[in-house]
Amino acid sequence: MSKQWTSPNTIIGDAATGSRYLRREHINENFWREIKKGNHILFVAPRRVGKTSIMQDLADNPEPGFICIYQNIEGVKSKNEFYKRLFDLVLQCTDRSKKDKIVDVVSRWVKRYEIDDISKSGVKIKSKELDYESELRNMIPELAESGHHTIIFLDEFAEVINKLKKQNRAEDAIDILHTLRELRSDADFCKFTLVYAGSVGLQFVIKSIDRPKLINDLHPIETGALTESEAAQLVNQLVVGATMQMDAEIIGYLMQKINHLLPYYIQLMIQEADMIGKEQNNPQISHAIIDAAFDRVLKKNKNFEDWLSRLKDYQPIHFPFINHLLITCAHNDKITIQEVYNIACDAKHNYKDDYMDFVEELMNDGYFIESPKHVYRFISPFLQQFWLNKFPIKND
Ligand SMILES: Nc1ncnc2c1ncn2[C@@H]1O[C@H](COP(=O)(O)OP(=O)(O)OP(=O)(O)O)[C@@H](O)[C@H]1O
Ligand SMILES: [Mg+2]
Repeated sequence: MSKQWTSPNTIIGDAATGSRYLRREHINENFWREIKKGNHILFVAPRRVGKTSIMQDLADNPEPGFICIYQNIEGVKSKNEFYKRLFDLVLQCTDRSKKDKIVDVVSRWVKRYEIDDISKSGVKIKSKELDYESELRNMIPELAESGHHTIIFLDEFAEVINKLKKQNRAEDAIDILHTLRELRSDADFCKFTLVYAGSVGLQFVIKSIDRPKLINDLHPIETGALTESEAAQLVNQLVVGATMQMDAEIIGYLMQKINHLLPYYIQLMIQEADMIGKEQNNPQISHAIIDAAFDRVLKKNKNFEDWLSRLKDYQPIHFPFINHLLITCAHNDKITIQEVYNIACDAKHNYKDDYMDFVEELMNDGYFIESPKHVYRFISPFLQQFWLNKFPIKND
């Protein structure tokens, strides 16, 4: 064995790119098919499933005839800021494109708006204050004349809408949703697609501001766990050239252990298994190393803390009821619909009329799966164990 220990090719946390990224062609194809049909996309999925990685990959590898830009718009705090951000994105996206006709469009805009600089960090305009909303309405049809189709991936859009609502700016949120809906139905904007992404259940937020119609024309695209063969492919991809060795049997054991095959969980396990292998100077990853890696991943609470804090954040009023369901499920390995109902009828909760909304939310947000019918379980053993560690005492 060589003395030098080489760790696997993985960086945890950031969106995966290049050889660290496993592309699922069917997801990319799904996007392109729907965009070509003229649909606008709602890309909302639970945290850490790989949304940002997918969108960055799509934006970096557009099909011919499309120009794309990806941006996380998390910091947007008002409707004006939103329109300014969109205005900047259209400029940044077109400025990067060296395609015929687009270059002419950009130079026309640079003159018209007296633009000093367009860079990755934004657009600098000499002095004038613009009405960004109405300028967007002018620019996008002009851009379409170049023959290219523009796609803007707005990551964390759902979070922005939710934040506006929470900060008593529901009117701003409604205004943004309303304008975007109007643009989508305007024929002049048919070569302009927005992908609305995030991990907050946007439908839920919109329902709470009483405007479900504002997004019901969006086409949802879903993403979830990897299949077993995709997971095996990712493991092999990550350990190429590494000292640690994992044969097919041990990869199977790793998959069985994490069950819900998110690339994120695979990364965490590979990283810990590598560290343990290195400490033991043992490149051959064993069942015992996988078990120890699982426990270590869980000990680093920050990996899962977010699953708890976002429930408290998005559902502050309903949290005690939701958490009662989660704790019961964590301790019993499952929760039946009857048990849900009994908890809902408990005087301290009183959710007799709408308890299923919360069960559905827990399924949509990636906590529970239903298996078999009317029996709910944690989708991930990591999450279940995290809940047990956090709430070792069962509720009555
Ligand atoms: N297809 C993939 N191949 C390899 N690694 C991936 C893939 N998708 C996601 N990951 C890894 O999983 C983690 C989460 O990915 P990403 O940030 O893309 O997810 P997300 O859904 O945008 O998360 P969040 O909801 O926190 O914004 C990252 O560490 C990333 O490197
Ligand atoms: Mg993300």
